[in-house]
Amino acid sequence: MSLNFGILTAGGDCPGLNAAIRGLGKALIQNHGAHVIGFLDGFRGLAENRFVELNTRSLSGILTQGGTILGTSRDKPHKMPMAGLPTDMTDVIVENYERNHLDGLICLGGNGTQKNAWRLAKKGLNVLTLPKTIDNDILKTDMSFGFDTALSIATEAIDRLHSTAHSHHRIIIVEVMGHQAGWLTLGAGISGGADVILIPEIPYTVQSIADSILKRKKSGKSFSIVAIAEGAMSVDFAKSFHALENRIKETTDKKQKAMLKVELSEMERIRATHTLRLTQKLTEATGLEARLTILGHVQRGGIPSPADRLLATTLGTACADMAARKKFGYMMAVKGNEIKPVEIEKVIKGIKNVPPDHYWVQTARSAGTCMGD
Ligand code: F6P
Repeated sequence: MSLNFGILTAGGDCPGLNAAIRGLGKALIQNHGAHVIGFLDGFRGLAENRFVELNTRSLSGILTQGGTILGTSRDKPHKMPMAGLPTDMTDVIVENYERNHLDGLICLGGNGTQKNAWRLAKKGLNVLTLPKTIDNDILKTDMSFGFDTALSIATEAIDRLHSTAHSHHRIIIVEVMGHQAGWLTLGAGISGGADVILIPEIPYTVQSIADSILKRKKSGKSFSIVAIAEGAMSVDFAKSFHALENRIKETTDKKQKAMLKVELSEMERIRATHTLRLTQKLTEATGLEARLTILGHVQRGGIPSPADRLLATTLGTACADMAARKKFGYMMAVKGNEIKPVEIEKVIKGIKNVPPDHYWVQTARSAGTCMGD
């Protein structure tokens, strides 16, 4: 009897997902004689039993394609909007898994997907995962696919912004994706030679940024590039934000917790427009003209870089071997020069933030970059 596997992609899309689906699917089919189906639109497809057959034909020609041929969504198994109401679809998912006689389910995604996959593993499903995110913020893996491509896109954007900032003697603030972790902003900021880099892990003051820009001006440089992560915060905002996060963690009362969560989403809403306010504040503080560029989903589009294709294919094929050996409950991870399985249970313990003393931060500082503090 051949083995049956289901694959799904969940959370935000990114370049490299198709390369991973291809590597995983081809190795399962060609090396292990498995039958493989792909659920559509993340966990929603699994809950609604919507899938396509994957074979060597459908897996051909997708290596360089961006996005995911399976579609994706941010729907969670235990809180899936059904007819407008959040519904626990876990039992239906377990039924569909059994109805398709699956020997295992392989979920490709970021931190949310790892958590959801683990929830299903606890319900008895045989689960494996692959780390995908442009944020590179998954614990227990040095690298996730999608990051390298986004790094190239964001760096190229900063390169292009240099010439226009220079010509107009302006400050250009460039907002890079990353709500919780600053890897992408920091990496692109260093690679693109940003003059100021602001990340969620290091709160900033407007004064410190303005001082560094005015210092540059004094030394004859009439323009500056500020690379800022979506989730970067001022010192004052960060204090209230983290205090609220801690209160949520400590509160055991369900009703109060829910109310605090509403407060937090309100703060997140305010944070979502902070780059615009910073642009205005920097003009006021420096007397220089400032412009804002939000890179947004451009960073998740288009063809994967060779490094992402290589990583996604390596992780995908290694995962196929694990599945064929019936070793479940793991995420395939990069550790130095090796691909290693790590328990999903350990991956979901938190997110991988930039340590403020990380060598990338030290590199930026040594190159004369203001980190906003
Ligand atoms: O998938 C990660 C990410 O791109 C983050 O960097 C970003 O904050 C978020 O997704 C955006 O989510 P969405 O595509 O749902 O707007």
